[in-house]
Amino acid sequence: MIEPVRQWVRDASRIVVLSGAGMSAESGVPTFRDAQTGLWANFRPEELATEQAFRANPAMVWDWYVSRRRMIERVQPNAGHFAIAAFQQRHPGRLTVATQNVDGLHQRAGSPGVLALHGNIADDRWLDPPRACCRQGPVLDGSPSRCATCGNLRRPAVVWFGEMLPAAELAAAEEAAARCELMLVVGTSGVVYPAAGLARSTRGRVVVLNPQPSELDDAVDAVLAGTAAALLPQLLEE
Ligand code: OAD
Repeated sequence: MIEPVRQWVRDASRIVVLSGAGMSAESGVPTFRDAQTGLWANFRPEELATEQAFRANPAMVWDWYVSRRRMIERVQPNAGHFAIAAFQQRHPGRLTVATQNVDGLHQRAGSPGVLALHGNIADDRWLDPPRACCRQGPVLDGSPSRCATCGNLRRPAVVWFGEMLPAAELAAAEEAAARCELMLVVGTSGVVYPAAGLARSTRGRVVVLNPQPSELDDAVDAVLAGTAAALLPQLLEE
């Protein structure tokens, strides 16, 4: 099945890669839902990845994100990330990456203009709307740090359960999905919306790249059963 998809890549003037946690699995970043190794196999999402959980126990949630940041700093983009970035450099403006991943590995591989739908774990922001003191005053170190004047907390700049996606990134991804002729859906279980909805809403061809079945398989033009690092170089390298 790979040869027809290679031809679709050659024919498409507008391509979207929609990536999920499986994109980074071969870099050593655990996925969320894979039994045994997935992050949610060991933690309850509602205890960690919600605003309510952070307000109830900021130190615990912050420290978990710090440990994930440290882990992600130690890993490297894999052959899949590099194949995408190299394609974008050879064909400027032809391929857009929209990712659910917060690990920054597409960006580190050299992909321009990545639409980070769920934020970026390397960044943080104010928990409550910042007052003048938050921007200018001293910040108290701690776990997490807080504004020394009003106590506002710093939080990871990732999207938690129940939160809106960043509006500009989502709008750009929806537009790219609406306009593309081919969407490669890489390493996502397809259960989390609105990201999964991008694959269902496009009128272009959709191809899933995943070693396991996903929720999107019924609605796509082809399923390539394999890993991101193995398949993407075969599809995107000339
Ligand atoms: P999941 O953990 O739900 O799914 C990972 C997918 O990657 C599964 O379908 C695996 O079969 C597949 N996979 C595993 N290894 C792979 C490999 N080497 N190559 C390709 N695919 C592989 O992760 P996501 O679908 O990304 O949201 O999860 C979506 C969102 O749910 C995450 O962004 C996160 C989570 O809750 C937030 O935190 C807001």
